[in-house]
Amino acid sequence: MRCSLNLLVVPETQKLRALALAALFAFAFSVPCSLFPNPSAAQSPTYNLGRTPTEEEIRAAGLSIGPDGKDLPPGSGTAKEGAKIYAQRCAACHGPTGAEGEVSAKGRRPAPPLVGGKGTLTSPKPVRTVGSFWPYASTLWDYINRAMPLFAEGSLSANEVYAVTAFVLFQNGIIQENDVLDAKTLPKVQMPNRNGFLPLRPEWKAPPVDPNRVP
Ligand code: HEC
Repeated sequence: MRCSLNLLVVPETQKLRALALAALFAFAFSVPCSLFPNPSAAQSPTYNLGRTPTEEEIRAAGLSIGPDGKDLPPGSGTAKEGAKIYAQRCAACHGPTGAEGEVSAKGRRPAPPLVGGKGTLTSPKPVRTVGSFWPYASTLWDYINRAMPLFAEGSLSANEVYAVTAFVLFQNGIIQENDVLDAKTLPKVQMPNRNGFLPLRPEWKAPPVDPNRVP
């Protein structure tokens, strides 16, 4: 980037003043130029701090699966395989079958039940669980992958997340014990409350602005 300022017309009589101004301008314009360094300089070892993350690290940290299940990683699992993982990694908080949840104890954040509650959403005491409330199985995979087990987030492999997701769905009577969940089958799982939500973006249009409106 070129950072120079050309004064085009400098009347002879104002030469001194113009020179002073030019010096001021040159200073003023030289500052913003230094704010736009060569982009590659951002990764230079100038400060010897950090390093550029690898593709693998970016993928692991930034993996986020939406309802369509696009970007679900390779791997698979069944509820049968997931039962063991659930018992070891989840049951202490969510209960042995998932329907119990955690009983509120002082100083501890209770874990909600993951199973049951079907048909209670319109009752005075709705029980919101994966089975009764969640609209997508793909986002269940995403949530478990990123946020569970609490305090050991990110410690499950993709296969383990598929398996434990399958276990939670099986406990809710949504899939069979030996159904294989993977990137292809998981987004096809029909959740009971799939249509219990308003559209993601209701068709709402802003009313026309009244030109006489006092702000
Ligand atoms: C140390 C306790 C603990 C462990 C272990 C744990 N969870 Fe959780 N879990 C929680 C808490 C607390 C919440 C509520 C988090 C919140 O609402 O922000 C939660 C929330 C969830 C939810 C969301 C429930 C909902 O309807 O909002 C799912 C699904 C879940 N956990 C699955 C699992 C699975 C699967 C495992 C095992 C791999 C696991 N959890 C292990 C404590 C735990």
